Amino acid sequence: MSPLDGKAVLITGGAGGIGAAIARRFASRGARVLIADVDQAGAAVAAELGGVFVHTDVTKRTDNLAAVEAATEHFGGLDIAVLNAGIGEKSGFVEEFRPEHYRDLVSVNLDGVVYGLHAALEVFTAQGSGAILATSSLAGLTESPIGPLYAATKHAVIGLVRSVAPTVAAHGITVNALCPTFIDTPILGEATPFITEMGVAVLPPERVAEVAELVLTRGGTGQAWPVVPHGEPGPFVFPGLPPIMTDPNRQATA
Ligand SMILES: NC(=O)c1ccc[n+]([C@@H]2O[C@H](COP(=O)([O-])OP(=O)(O)OC[C@H]3O[C@@H](n4cnc5c(N)ncnc54)[C@H](O)[C@@H]3O)[C@@H](O)[C@H]2O)c1
Repeated sequence: MSPLDGKAVLITGGAGGIGAAIARRFASRGARVLIADVDQAGAAVAAELGGVFVHTDVTKRTDNLAAVEAATEHFGGLDIAVLNAGIGEKSGFVEEFRPEHYRDLVSVNLDGVVYGLHAALEVFTAQGSGAILATSSLAGLTESPIGPLYAATKHAVIGLVRSVAPTVAAHGITVNALCPTFIDTPILGEATPFITEMGVAVLPPERVAEVAELVLTRGGTGQAWPVVPHGEPGPFVFPGLPPIMTDPNRQATA
């Protein structure tokens, strides 16, 4: 039996792309899914999987709280929150800077994860268990000259995940991030042929769902898992910091 069998899972941005692929894979493992999305297409995905759809704008804290509440009411609890809703960068930074689009990027890609995480933690800390998986990006692990503002939001998600994880571990809660390379979904717009022409792999969303399942079943926390074309999936190894103690032979415990 899969560890996902019977689990109640909330997935933001589950109306299409990576979120829908995760919903389908988890449902195939016996999970009960709630799709939270601004796009009504999420209702069809939920219906296909015998799940629930809740119209949710992740940029609003109240919508995140309502989605979590709907999950607990419908399923009698919540086990996993996949905070996946996101948008791509549609303007430049050095040139063609559009401040309103910058605000949208931060609202969806960062506020959406902050509010979703906080809403899920209210339930998870009370029950003493739960798993959170946020979709960051490879652009959260490295520089991305084609999308510096998108990269900034995705770095922020990884900083959040790594920083919250130690605090909630004592409550039996894990917090991890997925860091996919280019994935064949609508977020790439017209860019897919140009990316493949450069020899860069564009993977199917099902590959992300496969790694999502691995992350949740391996039980680690505070990790960021790249989703790339080659090699065994595993957590990214962050370089250590230079020493910050006044006595360089003493280790920081915080
Ligand atoms: N496709 C890629 O190349 C790629 C690579 C790395 C990371 N990601 C990340 O994966 C996640 C999923 O993206 P995708 O590739 O499936 O793209 P997508 O456009 O297919 O899916 C994004 C989903 O988020 C939803 N959404 C957008 N704004 C929302 C809001 N305010 N409230 C609720 N839902 C909202 C959309 O309706 C859509 O269903 C995003 O966080 C994205 O940044 C994608």
